[in-house]
Amino acid sequence: MKKVVVLGSTGSIGRSTLDVVRRRPDKLSVVGLSAGTHARLLEEQAREFGVDLVALNAFSGSSPEGVQVLSGEKAAAELVALTRPDIVVNGISGAAGFLPSWQAVRQGAVLALANKESLVIGGDFITREMERHGARIVPVDSEHSAIFQCLAGERPEEVSRILLTASGGPFRTRPKESFAGITPEEALSHPTWSMGRRITIDSATMMNKGLEIIEAYWLFGVDLDRIMVVVHPQSIVHSMVEFRDMSIKAQMGIPDMRVAIAYALSWPSRMELNLEPLDLAAMKTLEFFPPDEDKFPALGIAREAMEQPCTLPCVMNAADETAVEGFLERRIRFDEITDIVRKTMDKLAGSRVSSPEDLIELDRESRKIAENMIP
Ligand SMILES: NC(=O)c1ccc[n+]([C@@H]2O[C@H](COP(=O)([O-])OP(=O)(O)OC[C@H]3O[C@@H](n4cnc5c(N)ncnc54)[C@H](OP(=O)(O)O)[C@@H]3O)[C@@H](O)[C@H]2O)c1
Repeated sequence: MKKVVVLGSTGSIGRSTLDVVRRRPDKLSVVGLSAGTHARLLEEQAREFGVDLVALNAFSGSSPEGVQVLSGEKAAAELVALTRPDIVVNGISGAAGFLPSWQAVRQGAVLALANKESLVIGGDFITREMERHGARIVPVDSEHSAIFQCLAGERPEEVSRILLTASGGPFRTRPKESFAGITPEEALSHPTWSMGRRITIDSATMMNKGLEIIEAYWLFGVDLDRIMVVVHPQSIVHSMVEFRDMSIKAQMGIPDMRVAIAYALSWPSRMELNLEPLDLAAMKTLEFFPPDEDKFPALGIAREAMEQPCTLPCVMNAADETAVEGFLERRIRFDEITDIVRKTMDKLAGSRVSSPEDLIELDRESRKIAENMIP
């Protein structure tokens, strides 16, 4: 029986994780749950899974009977430290996921990582600690799970390129001239995946793919110029790896995050999920296109951020989180999101960090600068 902590259990990844656990009570036992604000749902989940310790970022009031609540910004990391799980599923959205990931690798756990921001912000710190403490990161992001699976049994020196697929989001075919008029409702309707608000907007700007390029760099140790993005609107091929003999391995499947989550929870084996199989014949067409980097500048911004890999990706992420909020609150236009990110990066280029605490401070400063650009 593996002890599992689910961080961000009230969100899209968290709820899918609990659905996987429900299907395998013989193998997985939840020992801790965390959320940001949704106290009621968190309490219901704690009762269902028999969990007596939870973390809630914004908690005021008294703990429900039989459940102890840790609160505040560091509560999720404390939960990981106190419960000593075998596996930590990090499904928190945004930079708030960094500290608990850091804690998980420092105690040698398997980190089932959906929170890509952990590596975008602190890839250098996290990968170094992972090696030192014998921890393991198993990616949950479907693209990185695909790459991880394609690399199984292969030699790193034989990898030629990583081909990261992208759905292209809802505005793939929309003319750039009309981007200024995009509404939050339009941007929130993703064609193939159902996800939280921030990642859905990031998929529409393709900043999500920018974050994923950085995530792939830290996870797989492949140079940036060998990580290519391929637009694949059907989201059936989750990503590919090309080897030096020009052979390409692709991992495919239905667009359902429970598959990648289950793989991370059962790795290095696989578990029965009883989901609908993929009907390839019914798909008929699988398309692949190059990304339009003029229409979607986020990909170039992410590569620029990696010129200062220990600081600018943190700035980029914080500015993007702030700008996405501004867009959802209708305070800025859709096309201004990436402008704000770039300008914030320009202001903080050359920053230095020497500890995770410095990174958290840099994240705060980036948010302040980005917020000042939003009316
Ligand atoms: N959804 C997907 O299909 C998918 C796919 C690949 C990767 N990911 C990645 O997985 C992560 C989660 O995405 P999601 O779509 O599941 O997001 P989501 O639905 O918005 O859920 C986010 C979760 O994080 C919690 N949270 C938010 N801010 C927090 C804070 N400051 N402190 C502690 N907890 C906080 C939320 O709690 P409350 O709801 O209680 O506020 C919620 O439980 C993101 O990094 C995303 O990029 C998601």
